[in-house]
Amino acid sequence: MDENQLKSSAKRKVFYITTPIYYVNDVPHIGHAYTTIIADAVSRHKKLAGLEVYFLTGTDEHGQKIEKAAAEKNLSPIELANQVVGRFKQLWQDLLIDYNFFIRTTADFHEKGVQAIFQQLKEKGDIYKGIYRGWYCVSCENFLTEDIPLDEDGLKTCPDCGKKATQVAEECYFFRLSAYQEKLLAFYQQNPHFVRPQSRMNEVVSFVRQGLKDLSITRTTVKWGIPVPNDPAHTIYVWFDALHNYLTGIGYGWNSSLFHKFWPADIHLIGKDILRFHAIFWPAFLMAAGLPLPKIVYSHGWWLKDETKMSKSKGNVLDPRIILEDFGPDPLRYFLLREVPIGLDGNFSHEGFLHRVNSDLANDLGNLVHRTLTMIQNYFQGKMEQPAPENESDRHLREAFNQTKTKAIAFYDELAINRALEEIWSYINQVNKYLADNEPWKMARQAEARPRLARILYQTGCALRGIALLIYPVMPASAEKIWQMLGEKTALSKLTYDQFQFETWLPEEAISPPVPLFPRVRLEDFLKEKASPTPATKKITKEAKMSTISFEEFMKMDLRVGEILSVEKVEGTRKLYKIQVSLGEETKQMVSGIAEEYQPQDLIGKKVVVVANLKPAVIRGIESQTMLLAADVNGRAVIPFFVEDVPAGAKVR
Ligand code: MSP
Repeated sequence: MDENQLKSSAKRKVFYITTPIYYVNDVPHIGHAYTTIIADAVSRHKKLAGLEVYFLTGTDEHGQKIEKAAAEKNLSPIELANQVVGRFKQLWQDLLIDYNFFIRTTADFHEKGVQAIFQQLKEKGDIYKGIYRGWYCVSCENFLTEDIPLDEDGLKTCPDCGKKATQVAEECYFFRLSAYQEKLLAFYQQNPHFVRPQSRMNEVVSFVRQGLKDLSITRTTVKWGIPVPNDPAHTIYVWFDALHNYLTGIGYGWNSSLFHKFWPADIHLIGKDILRFHAIFWPAFLMAAGLPLPKIVYSHGWWLKDETKMSKSKGNVLDPRIILEDFGPDPLRYFLLREVPIGLDGNFSHEGFLHRVNSDLANDLGNLVHRTLTMIQNYFQGKMEQPAPENESDRHLREAFNQTKTKAIAFYDELAINRALEEIWSYINQVNKYLADNEPWKMARQAEARPRLARILYQTGCALRGIALLIYPVMPASAEKIWQMLGEKTALSKLTYDQFQFETWLPEEAISPPVPLFPRVRLEDFLKEKASPTPATKKITKEAKMSTISFEEFMKMDLRVGEILSVEKVEGTRKLYKIQVSLGEETKQMVSGIAEEYQPQDLIGKKVVVVANLKPAVIRGIESQTMLLAADVNGRAVIPFFVEDVPAGAKVR
């Protein structure tokens, strides 16, 4: 943020940050987690800075993409949305995302708000009726620009996602975007830091300079959307609908004092793929509605998996739950925020992740906390004694903390979170060196050295409290743990940066022995367990944690008795078998992660329960058309076999 923006949000004492609202066509993955973790870290930082924060996230539930995904799953769009919303909310809880409000675009107040603005713009003449002829990408929910050429099949390909677009010719309402071209350019000129990083701002300006066409903002062929007021044959275009969540999620149309308190947004955090919607359409809609514009649109890069784009068809989409199971939220939050500057693309590899966890978290920080608390325990039975006065090296450690704090706060303010973490880690290493240089362990048995020993451990304890404060935005759970292990009674989340002073540590009561902060996982184990596709058995336990389902929903599952005909090991894997299973009239193939528990001879000829109507998936290049049921006993698959003989294909219910 530049000086003026910093001052203006400091003056306002409130801070409003948003994430994009996520499509509910599919379950959350690491990319969604990334945006939301950044927003959470920034929000926690702003609270420590003394601001009142409103953090909004939610789901984008209308449109053709959701309509299509629901139909493929044999669900109504709202049923699909309800299921996926449960998954998002659960993940946010697991990742310690402390949002203020979760907006769903199917909420009544949101729909009314969007209709009210639509009506207002129509009455003003900024929305008018016409005919749209052109190309539409369902995957991006985007109209293609006219300059894209037809290919040899007479079709157009979406430049953003590479999928084929569909041709559309229908009556629709247009938003008079062309009328806002000059106003937008003037706005960008007056607010050169509206879009971050700067390179993205330049992209936006040159796009607008090329000329803006009016934008079709309704569809007649899409039913799943908000109806146009007084013209219900038309539904409102999903992006017009979705962008207004930033208003309705903060009280527009239902809590005017809340709305006026927080609007305009201080930061809209988005991925680079949705920049145009946020930096061009959104300000134009707001100008038309006569509302103030957001202060910053911050566009982050993409996470790739092993250097390739994640996609369902490649089967390389990372499910954050797999990592959360072993590591909890903080290592993932740390890795995603430490690894790359916001704005650049990042590469997720299991090796890279584990390296950071073992080296930065377990070695540098975890060891430091553990060693210090153990020494306080062993030498002072957890109760500090009067320390000797500060010497030069103690003073240096204290002053270095104050400098680190100033720099880290400034970096957090600029959303240079990786640089804030670099500063903090360089301080952690200074503290490690301070201990190594002062060798407190040599003083333990010398009575006359006890005040000096007390000073060294007191100084290190003060430094650890400071470190806890500074890592709190990124690693709230570990920060609170360190804070409490040092004997603090109130939560760190109740503190501000200003209230914290290095030397205010008064460990009055005995400090209890340390508990480990970060798990140590060996790379080999991690790769074998986690880099392979999720075994079917694991999925079953995960789904069991989901919200309740009706009997009708349960009956949609076609559970059958399957007789195992053949079992082959999938090459290069430890856990996977390729299994042929007879369902009486047909044979299906499945890939199942049970090779560690069962030998082929234990399985062949056995009858098991399989999900016969499961959508096929490709696992390690092999089509898996069904799945067998098994209990997940701490990650070990235990298959229920039949005690009595049953015919293959018999229904199980
Ligand atoms: N629904 C729209 C946003 C409407 S906001 C008014 C949408 N949804 S999305 O679910 O497809 O994407 C949401 C966000 O996730 C986007 O900001 C997108 O950039 C981000 N990511 C999706 N995959 C990603 C990665 N692999 N890496 C990082 N972020 C990516 O677009």
